[in-house]
Amino acid sequence: MNSALPHSPAADRNKGPILDQLRALLPVGARVLEIASGTGQHAEHFALASRRGGWGWQWQPSEATPAGLRPLAERLAEVPGVRPPLMLDVRQPDWPKAAGAAGWDAVYVANLLHISPWACAGALMRGAARVLRPGGRLIVYGPFIVEGEPTSPSNQAFDIDLRSRDAAWGLRHLSDVQDEARAAGLVFEALQDMPAHNRLLVFGRPAG
Ligand SMILES: C[S@@+](CC[C@H](N)C(=O)[O-])C[C@H]1O[C@@H](n2cnc3c(N)ncnc32)[C@H](O)[C@@H]1O
Repeated sequence: MNSALPHSPAADRNKGPILDQLRALLPVGARVLEIASGTGQHAEHFALASRRGGWGWQWQPSEATPAGLRPLAERLAEVPGVRPPLMLDVRQPDWPKAAGAAGWDAVYVANLLHISPWACAGALMRGAARVLRPGGRLIVYGPFIVEGEPTSPSNQAFDIDLRSRDAAWGLRHLSDVQDEARAAGLVFEALQDMPAHNRLLVFGRPAG
């Protein structure tokens, strides 16, 4: 592999704990659309684990820009169970459909909502609701502000830093994200505490 590819130390730290959660959430043979795949470290780690475990996950990575797509495609070119990355900005109306299926079993996204304009939250929810199969899940990882719980000093500092870099960025309130999901027709299923004051949110598209 090209050692000059972009690398995220945070993705190396969180990929294991996230995988532990995905194992409980994704069925064998799951078709997963990943939004904002970034460096591709998550896709690579999850797909290799799926291969070792015989879970048969089919991973569809994506990125928002051609510049983001190029290194992602290079990292994932030979990873089994990973399809060639697609270009997808959550705000675009046409999201890729799962080939030959009623919809994706899951849409997965990590670390997008605090580092993009707030409009991306609603777009994410509406897009996922359109392309998930009935009973499918939207899985969202990242730092969130949870009402009634103290925000950690590290997340407070992170929030200030994000807003100084771009006034449209910043940690999101869980209740605001839940409101967007509800408006899109998704049902909030679970909130999982994760290492380093992160969370995993799970939303479902109703089966009926
Ligand atoms: C902090 S990185 C997270 C990457 C990876 N998911 C991870 O956790 O390591 C944020 C990613 O969101 C992507 N992104 C930003 N705005 C986006 C949008 N409107 N639609 C889709 N992806 C977007 C960026 O290109 C970037 O790769």
